[in-house]
Amino acid sequence: MTVIPPVGLGTWKLWCTFHKKSLVRTACSQSLKALKLDYLDLYLIHWPMGFKPGKDNMPLDHTGMVIPSNTDFLETWEAMEELVIEGLVKAIGVSNFNHEQLERLLNKQNLRIKPITNQIECHPYLSQKRLISFCQARDVSVTAYRPLGGSSEGVDLIDDPVIKRIAKKHGKSPAQILIRFQIQRNVIVIPKSVTPHRIQENIQVLDFELTEQDMNDIFSLEKNLRLATFPTTENHKDYPFHIEY
Ligand SMILES: NC(=O)c1ccc[n+]([C@@H]2O[C@H](COP(=O)([O-])OP(=O)(O)OC[C@H]3O[C@@H](n4cnc5c(N)ncnc54)[C@H](OP(=O)(O)O)[C@@H]3O)[C@@H](O)[C@H]2O)c1
Repeated sequence: MTVIPPVGLGTWKLWCTFHKKSLVRTACSQSLKALKLDYLDLYLIHWPMGFKPGKDNMPLDHTGMVIPSNTDFLETWEAMEELVIEGLVKAIGVSNFNHEQLERLLNKQNLRIKPITNQIECHPYLSQKRLISFCQARDVSVTAYRPLGGSSEGVDLIDDPVIKRIAKKHGKSPAQILIRFQIQRNVIVIPKSVTPHRIQENIQVLDFELTEQDMNDIFSLEKNLRLATFPTTENHKDYPFHIEY
């Protein structure tokens, strides 16, 4: 008899319409089934905000704003912990949590499993210094999403003259500089590409080092420019971006 070992892979996120405690397992099982996996390496609460459950992923009212659920992310977290205990996921974390929300979670009574990471938007135009210090001081790793500035119109980090100058100096591409910048801050970085030669390029970031001056020059690009703002959720009680960090 051949024994097939359990197969697991990657990071997945719990969407906001599944924050109700009883729905967390359903969402995770659906993802496992769709991915044909036995477990996930990492499962994150995608946003601190719960939305009205149902088929519609983005339930909106007549004014075009999101319809919330009456859930609290502390309850959602309890169901996330159960997934680890059951073996459906190896590790759990959060995404788009501000420092107050993360603190509230870390201070939760009977917390069984700490969030392993907070996945947040982070690049030189939104360097997230305060939130990163806050997380790292509490042993919660930080994962930088949209590290290359994504593909938003009008925002071209890859073409920033400072990034291009530093790239030329090191004989590297601008994308490699943006990725290396995060690595040198002890931030996990997840650039996305569907282009094979770029995927290769984005991995070649361990054979050079940015100087302190390079790092400072990159930090000087700060614009507090958030690309993932999610405007239809601004009225939500748990909208994370009303406070500074
Ligand atoms: N937690 C959250 O709320 C959240 C929100 C947004 C994103 N994310 C995650 O973060 C990851 C990355 O974010 P993202 O896709 O928004 O932005 P990103 O990685 O900053 O940028 C992706 C864009 O950069 C291009 N690119 C990739 N490598 C390049 C290179 N070497 N040179 C030039 N261009 C390059 C890609 O083009 P091609 O693909 O055409 O090569 C794509 O247009 C994804 O895994 C995503 O799931 C999480």
